[in-house]
Amino acid sequence: MREIRFDSFGGPEVLTLHTDAPQPVAGPGEVLVEVAYVGLNPLDYKIRDGSSGRSKDLVLPAGTGREMAGVVLSAGPDLDEAELEARGVAPGTRVFGMRAGADQRGTAAEVIAIAADDLAPIPDEVTAEELPRWAGLALVGLTAIAVVRDSARIAEGETVLVHGGAGGVGQLLIPMALEAGAAQVWATGRAANAERIRELGATPIAYDDADWRAEIDEATGGRGVDVVLDTHYFTTFVPSLDHLAPGGRIVTLPTLADTSPATERGIEVHVPQLVPGRDRLDHLVQGLRSGAYPLEASTVLPLGEIARAHRLLAEGHTRGKLVLDAHA
Ligand SMILES: NC(=O)c1ccc[n+]([C@@H]2O[C@H](COP(=O)([O-])OP(=O)(O)OC[C@H]3O[C@@H](n4cnc5c(N)ncnc54)[C@H](OP(=O)(O)O)[C@@H]3O)[C@@H](O)[C@H]2O)c1
Repeated sequence: MREIRFDSFGGPEVLTLHTDAPQPVAGPGEVLVEVAYVGLNPLDYKIRDGSSGRSKDLVLPAGTGREMAGVVLSAGPDLDEAELEARGVAPGTRVFGMRAGADQRGTAAEVIAIAADDLAPIPDEVTAEELPRWAGLALVGLTAIAVVRDSARIAEGETVLVHGGAGGVGQLLIPMALEAGAAQVWATGRAANAERIRELGATPIAYDDADWRAEIDEATGGRGVDVVLDTHYFTTFVPSLDHLAPGGRIVTLPTLADTSPATERGIEVHVPQLVPGRDRLDHLVQGLRSGAYPLEASTVLPLGEIARAHRLLAEGHTRGKLVLDAHA
């Protein structure tokens, strides 16, 4: 089968498409899944170049990708098919999900072994054309839930500023913040993404066209916002601290972000901790199904274009999700 692997940390060129990789074997608690699409995330290029905290314990050669959508082929040795059926992930079912916690194996392959607990079924009415966004749903979705519910704890009537509103996580943060009761959400992004941000329910602020700090000051009468959800961090984190209302809080996404500028000023700051679990995956299913979470997969590339995909991720201007077609 085909599988992407890399055997040293480095640039996108270390990623190699193997065409004769052995099919994996499902271990205890696992199922084999034929992958249709692979969801990619900035975490993938950070693991590959060695800059992620996760690179430290990674055994090389390693795979890439943490999430996917596909069809369950078979159950592992200890799994009762009746129980899998009850959980909606029996052989023959279309599923999506992401590798949890310590599981360092990739998902960019034609067939993977993955814990049954890390999967949820894709509703029957979802068409084949819609599958790419399901492949990219789990990681950004579980992250957005952790940001809004666990870290920011957005309450009714609060004002929110999202940095990077058209990105993978940003496209879910906007509707989830509104669902949590936010009175108004502003979101930064390039002018080219303003319409998309508006469709998601936020007021766009084109950071390449205007000074977002002046725009927030004017919009809030100088008070600032109650909550900043900062998916970008580099140029946005420190300036955002001056645009928080008294008692305001900030959540920033990169795991290795230096949050000390906030703590030194006594400002509540969080880096979200992703919580896996079927209840949260099922919540995402409802949101995508109902249209409440209109996450888009803007770019679908063949598996063999993995290096180009990693380059695009590193450029940091992905709109919605970047996905690989495992069979193209
Ligand atoms: N802590 C965790 O568990 C966790 C989980 C998931 C992700 N993350 C991290 O969160 C970050 C975002 O992830 P993602 O999947 O949403 O990435 P993404 O899909 O690549 O989106 C990044 C977005 O940032 C925007 N952006 C770039 N420069 C900007 C600027 N100067 N000001 C405002 N926005 C800007 C881009 O929008 P434009 O094209 O409009 O500029 C792009 O849409 C990454 O660093 C990722 O590693 C952390």
